[in-house]
This record gives sequence, structure tokens and C-alpha cells, in this order.
Amino acid sequence: MKLSRRCTGSTAIAILAGSQVANCLSLDLSSPDSIKSVASTIAYDMMLYYTGNHTGDIPGNLPAPYYWWEAGAMFGAMVDYWYFTGDTTYNDVTTEALLWQVGPNRDYMTPNQTKTEGNDDQGFWGLAAMSAAEVNFPNPPSDQPQWLALAQAVFNTQAPRWDTTSCGGGLKWQIFTFNNGYNYKNAISNGCFFNLGARLAKYTGNDTYSDWAEKTYVWMESIGLIDQRYYVFDGSDDTINCTKVNLLQWTYNAGAMLLGAANMYNHTNGSTIWKTRLDGLVTGLDVFFPNGQNVMQEVACENNGLCNVDQHSFKAYLSRWMAATTKMAPYTYDTIMAKLAPSAKAAAAQCCGGENGRTCGLKWSMGSTWDGSYGVGQQMAALEVIQSNLISQVAGPVTNSTGGTSVGDPNAGSTTVSYLPIGPATTADRGGAGFLTAVVLISFIGMMWWMIVE
Ligand SMILES: *[C@@H]1O[C@H](CO)[C@@H](O)[C@H](O)[C@H]1NC(C)=O
Ligand SMILES: *[C@@H]1O[C@H](CO)[C@@H](O)[C@H](O)[C@H]1NC(C)=O
Ligand SMILES: *[C@@H]1O[C@H](CO)[C@@H](O)[C@H](O)[C@H]1NC(C)=O
Ligand SMILES: *[C@@H]1O[C@H](CO)[C@@H](O)[C@H](O)[C@H]1NC(C)=O
Repeated sequence: MKLSRRCTGSTAIAILAGSQVANCLSLDLSSPDSIKSVASTIAYDMMLYYTGNHTGDIPGNLPAPYYWWEAGAMFGAMVDYWYFTGDTTYNDVTTEALLWQVGPNRDYMTPNQTKTEGNDDQGFWGLAAMSAAEVNFPNPPSDQPQWLALAQAVFNTQAPRWDTTSCGGGLKWQIFTFNNGYNYKNAISNGCFFNLGARLAKYTGNDTYSDWAEKTYVWMESIGLIDQRYYVFDGSDDTINCTKVNLLQWTYNAGAMLLGAANMYNHTNGSTIWKTRLDGLVTGLDVFFPNGQNVMQEVACENNGLCNVDQHSFKAYLSRWMAATTKMAPYTYDTIMAKLAPSAKAAAAQCCGGENGRTCGLKWSMGSTWDGSYGVGQQMAALEVIQSNLISQVAGPVTNSTGGTSVGDPNAGSTTVSYLPIGPATTADRGGAGFLTAVVLISFIGMMWWMIVE
């Protein structure tokens, strides 16, 4: 992801041409068949955006304005889709995408993406592979990279990036010095690393991963990315040694920490320390369910219309990770479902727009009055929150001692294939980034939207 994208408002709102057909999705949460059928419709409409399987296009890429990371996130959603519904329609296209993008070292460091790839971007692809291992998504042919090994490869490339030259540790947002945001140490990069480490520990039983997860959590707390209320804040800056924190709260940051903590809780057989953290993170989620409605909201940008393309998808990940948390920590089930059920109902009602009369908007609290927005993120968020309501119908994630079949490689990703970035960013790209950086600075100084508070 790029710094600029996170900090600019949305322009993705447009009204589709044509007359609106009253064809909104109707969801009956008491019926698994109804949930599956609605999920199937939303998945179909989401996959219409995907062109990577068209002749001449590149598998695993979404067209503009969607960045590479979101395609990885979307294929993670399609792994979940198969897990929840059993519908195999998209399995081949999902496998093709997840394998095409692995890069020369089979670690989701693809030379084509050096201009956009941060630790979080790589993390989302790694987490899709991790999910595939956990749910026994059909394994690739044996001469191809395997799900577990891919997740390990992402972990193994990120751990050496742990940076102790400032802030007492942490991963930087960016991997490459030439990308905007190289000085930012943020919750999602560290959160994905934490989430992946905790899940690898649970899956493999190898404590190297849980040691890193513990260390990451403690570091995030130490600089205030997680506070006493278990709120998770967006990031800090190593040029000020992380002495101030950007207090924006995003659903996906909280979600990444939530599922990581649930895995640590489970991996440590219900330890008190991880139970305390998990309880706190569950309570901290309340900020995203305002007004006692139990309907998930991207509170930082939904009501002010400032959500950008990336941010339209964030509720997908909180939904996905809340559902998975109930498997690792069954005691959280009632509390979490009390939020996921009303959110799913509201999300389905919002799928009431566009030419097809069932396009999903962003603002679930608006009921069946479509908010006019549409895109991969809106479809994905609705899909994940709705299919998450099948969680009690499916088995929990497997591990390598409880039926997991994915072949791992503890050393994956550690052989350095040296490749240079494919040349400097083009003038057009940089011009755009420079302009957007200026927008960020204006927001920072003038509008307090980019809020940095002690
Ligand atoms: C990288 O870009 C080249 C040229 O467009 C393309 O042939 C290749 O499939 C791409 N690889 C990936 C992993 O995107
Ligand atoms: C930067 O922060 C870390 C962790 O809080 C601290 O240990 C270190 O002394 C600080 N460095 C400077 C130069 O203040
Ligand atoms: C850990 O997860 C398993 C599988 O979902 C579950 O049966 C078990 O109760 C969990 N452990 C704890 C301490 O909650
Ligand atoms: C545990 O994971 C670490 C980190 O990837 C690896 O170096 C080590 O070999 C693994 N240990 C075992 C027993 O697989």
C-alpha cells in the first residue's frame, strides 16, 4: 500500500447508469442455504471485477484502481468462500492467482510490485496462503509452491526486517527505501506479521513463531500502538523514534491483532496473559460498532466520505478474523456472533444498488438505501461478513497434527534471490505520489485528519 492512498478521500462514488431494479439481496441467517446463496451471488459479482484470467492479462492482478495487495486479500476471501460454502467454482482461479504471484523466491516478493509492495501487502498474500493451509484448501501440484511453505516464506523474509535502529524494534511499513512511508512503523505491517506468526505457531507447534508474535505484540504496546483500552492505532514514525502515535483506528488493524491473540491464547492452552489480551481486544472492538447497533462501521472514514479504495475493503478482514477467533477461543463465540449477525443482515440489506439492483455499498447502517458506492472492497466486505455466519457449520482450522495436509518448509524464503527493482518509478507515478504527499501534509497541518497526538 502507499502512504498517499491511505490518506486521501474517496472518489469512487458514482452512480451506475440505467434504471435501478428492486432486486436487493434477502438474507435469512437461520438458514445455511440462504447464507450460501447470498454469498454465492456476492462472490459472483465481486469476481466480475477480476480480469487476471482473461487472455493476455496477468493472473493475480486486479485492474486499476485496485492495488496488488487487495488482490491477495480477495483471493484470501475466496479461500474462505470455499471453506464456508463448499462451492468449488472459484478454486482453480484462486489457486492460479495465489501461485502466479509468488515471485522468483516463492515468498510473494514479486519484482513487478516493488513500487507498491510494503510488508503489509506481502503479508496479505502470505495470510491467504496461511488460510489455505488451515482449511485444507486443495493443495497445488507437488512441483509447485505449497500453502504452508509460502506462509513460512513470508514470515522468514519479514523477521530479518525487524528494525532495532529506532523505536526499540518493529517492522517498517515499507520494504524498499524508495517508497513513501519507509519511515512509518505501522499496525498493519506488524499486525500481519503477528497474526501470521501466531497462526504458524499454532499450525506447526514451532515456538520460534510464537516468540516473534509475543515480541511483536509487546513492542506494539510499548510504543502505544495498542493502549490500555486495547484500541489499536495506525502507526508511528521512526524519525521521531515513535514518540507520537497516529491515533486513527481501522477495523483491519484491530482484526489482525484479535485473531493473532486468539491463536496465541489457544497455542498457550488458554494462558492468563493471552486471555487478558484477547478479552481486551474483543472489548476494544466496540468502537467499530457504534450506537448500540452492533453493525460494523469503518468509523474513521465511513461517515465523512473519506474512505479510499483500500479502506472500502477493511471490514472484510475484521469480519473474517472475528469469525476465525471463535474457533481458537470458543468462549468468545456469543459475544462475536452478537456483532457478526446484525452486521451481516445490515450488509445484505445494503446490497441493493447499481444496475443489477444488488450492488453492495459501504454504509451498512443505511439499511436498504444504497449509499451509491461500489467496488471490490464493498463486495468483499459484504461477502466476508455474511459467510462468516456459517462459522458454526464448519470445522475449525487444522494443524499439522490434526489433519493439515499442506507441506511446509521451515527454511522457505530464506535463500536470497537477488533481483533489483525494475528500474526507478516512472515520472507519472512519482508525480502522483508527490502530489498526494502534499495532500497528506495539508491534511496533517490544516485539517487534523491525519491526526498525530501524543
Ligand atoms: C510481471 O510482468 C510481466 C510483464 O508484464 C508479466 O509477463 C509477468 O507475468 C508478471 N509477473 C507477475 C508475477 O506479475
Ligand atoms: C528510541 O526508543 C527506544 C524504545 O522506546 C528507546 O529504547 C531508545 O533509547 C530511544 N532512542 C533515542 C535516541 O531516544
Ligand atoms: C483451541 O482450539 C481448539 C480447536 O478449535 C478448541 O477445541 C479448543 O477448545 C481451543 N482451546 C482453548 C483453550 O480454548
Ligand atoms: C522453527 O522455525 C524456525 C524459523 O523458521 C526454523 O528456523 C526452525 O528450523 C524451525 N524448527 C523446526 C523444528 O522446524
